[in-house]
Amino acid sequence: MARKISFINYKGGVGKTSLIVNTAAALAKLGKRVLLFDFDTQSNASIWLLKLERWNKINTDGVGAIFSIFDPGQVQVKDLIIKDVVEGKNGEKLLPGLDLVPTTFNLVELESEYAGDPKRPAYLQFSEQVATIEKNYDFILFDCPPNILRASQCGIFTSNEIYVPANPDALSLIGFTLLAEKLHKFHQLSASFRKFSMGVPAQVQGVIFNSIKTGVDIEVPKMRMQLRMNQFRAAKRVAATAKIFNTQIRDAMIVRRAVALGLPVALVSVEGADVGAGSDNVINDYRKLATELIQQNPAAAT
Ligand SMILES: Nc1ncnc2c1ncn2[C@@H]1O[C@H](COP(=O)(O)OP(=O)(O)O)[C@@H](O)[C@H]1O
Ligand SMILES: [Mg+2]
Repeated sequence: MARKISFINYKGGVGKTSLIVNTAAALAKLGKRVLLFDFDTQSNASIWLLKLERWNKINTDGVGAIFSIFDPGQVQVKDLIIKDVVEGKNGEKLLPGLDLVPTTFNLVELESEYAGDPKRPAYLQFSEQVATIEKNYDFILFDCPPNILRASQCGIFTSNEIYVPANPDALSLIGFTLLAEKLHKFHQLSASFRKFSMGVPAQVQGVIFNSIKTGVDIEVPKMRMQLRMNQFRAAKRVAATAKIFNTQIRDAMIVRRAVALGLPVALVSVEGADVGAGSDNVINDYRKLATELIQQNPAAAT
């Protein structure tokens, strides 16, 4: 069965989307079959991987985006998968194994206009549909906004693992703390809808430090995060095996450039762009992170 993973923090701008897109790409490069769901209405991951033109078409036509499984509800998740999503200038497939279910701005309606059926919340409908396709994947990843409203709930309810991207600052620590509390409440609220076959409710398995500048000492924020992690472990608010990842992702120009180029960083050199010094190093960080993620498998630990 696929490992189902959400990347989330209650703090925006910490690098959730950059981490999930580049880790997904690194996993695909390691030969894993990866499906990424974009659950952030800002559509950053979708615009990134599809590039603006392909994404615009979906946004304008209103066909092919994740919200359509709820309203009008005639299509299913399996119909929305864009296989081998990353394409070069001439439509050639650059990264076989990385699939995407995109979002557009209409996902925001899930939070307000969408009434649904209270007996079948959106996250339950979604997770049942994912169950029909998960055998096709090694990893199913969910990019979530910095909250646990309905879109995030779809990712979290369907996941069995959560990773928390963080910057070495106080706000990331607050974001992690808030997340652990809200997560606990959501699991209580959704418990009656869980079936045994869904596996365990997703717990935080790790914190991943992102955007670390060269020469900046992060020992103090790291220690504070570790202390919070220890408290949460003792209170059973995170997984017993939860840890701060050994791999941290450095701050690198190429990460910001890659968005504009519509490519994961590992593929930027393929298109021959000028990416600045140190780009190999950050590509290596993502590869190490993907490897550490493969090893940090809670299902294997039990
Ligand atoms: N390792 C990194 N090095 C440099 N810039 C980064 C890195 N990771 C993220 N960024 C930049 O930080 C900003 C926020 O990142 P993003 O992934 O969109 O965060 P989030 O999804 O948490 O809001 C973006 O401009 C992104 O390009
Ligand atoms: Mg994001």
